[in-house]
Amino acid sequence: MTIDDDLFKSILARFASGITIVTTRDADGRDHGMTASAFSSLSLDPPLVLVCIANDATMAPVVATASSFAVNILADSQEALSRRFAGKLDDRFAGVGHTRGELGDAILDDVLAWMQCRIVARHPAGDHVVVIGAVDGAGARDARPLLYYRGGYAQLER
Ligand SMILES: Cc1cc2nc3c(=O)[nH]c(=O)nc-3n(C[C@H](O)[C@H](O)[C@H](O)COP(=O)(O)O)c2cc1C
Repeated sequence: MTIDDDLFKSILARFASGITIVTTRDADGRDHGMTASAFSSLSLDPPLVLVCIANDATMAPVVATASSFAVNILADSQEALSRRFAGKLDDRFAGVGHTRGELGDAILDDVLAWMQCRIVARHPAGDHVVVIGAVDGAGARDARPLLYYRGGYAQLER
């Protein structure tokens, strides 16, 4: 049995998630970043996480050769950043404050939490690639998360 496209999307949309901005750098050292909710923890020992990147995203050829990426988990005040890094802009980083993780990837200011990851595997899967990262560095602050549910942004009520 194959599932109807619209039904499949409506099922997936009911899985509430946080939102990340995944950042990496190309061979020239130029920053790339993309809003991604297809993020998951994967392993505790060793510490591994994964992100799923669409094959047609600008980020796809960049992570295909990069050695690292960072995951920026957004706080509830950062909806504009989420929209910015999913939109069509020449330079998504213009005016966006950031520092750098141990491996050089952009850590955006005021995120809820971040992880600097070394790429250890890439698995093509359908129209996405699953990129697995070993966590080399991380940080967090006390704030509330930005959420995504049924195609819209949401916040924790309490
Ligand atoms: C809330 C949200 C979550 C998203 N999650 C993902 C994701 O997990 N993987 C992905 O490939 N694209 C995801 N996207 C879409 C990308 O952010 C968007 O297609 C991409 O930034 C387009 O970039 P490009 O123009 O550089 O190709 C998401 C977009 C939004 C708004």
